[in-house]
Amino acid sequence: MQLPVDTFRNPRKPRREGRAVTVGRTDDVPPGRGATVDLEGGRELALYNVGGQFFATENFCPHRGAPLADGRLCGHIVECDLHGWRFDLRTGQCLTRAGKDIESYEVLIENGWIIIIV
Ligand code: FES
Repeated sequence: MQLPVDTFRNPRKPRREGRAVTVGRTDDVPPGRGATVDLEGGRELALYNVGGQFFATENFCPHRGAPLADGRLCGHIVECDLHGWRFDLRTGQCLTRAGKDIESYEVLIENGWIIIIV
């Protein structure tokens, strides 16, 4: 059965401002896990630890809006828990449906602090 291709428009996606936001310590997110990052104004990001490398994307799947921080990680790929759409954390590219890419954000680590450029 083919699932309908819905489009969820993420109202909680951070605006691109080129601003550095310190979101926590590297110890806060174990390797192989994702975490939700709450930003001011009700905005959200998903943060992932891939073998000690950190990546950030918008937090909601463009299919039907499931939180990607709760998805399954397989290397640099996150798979949405709801219907299995897959995204490359390095680029935000959707590997399941063309044209359904998500935003990815630069992550810096300084003295154990995680800083995301939004
Ligand atoms: S909500 Fe359907 S794949 Fe993510």
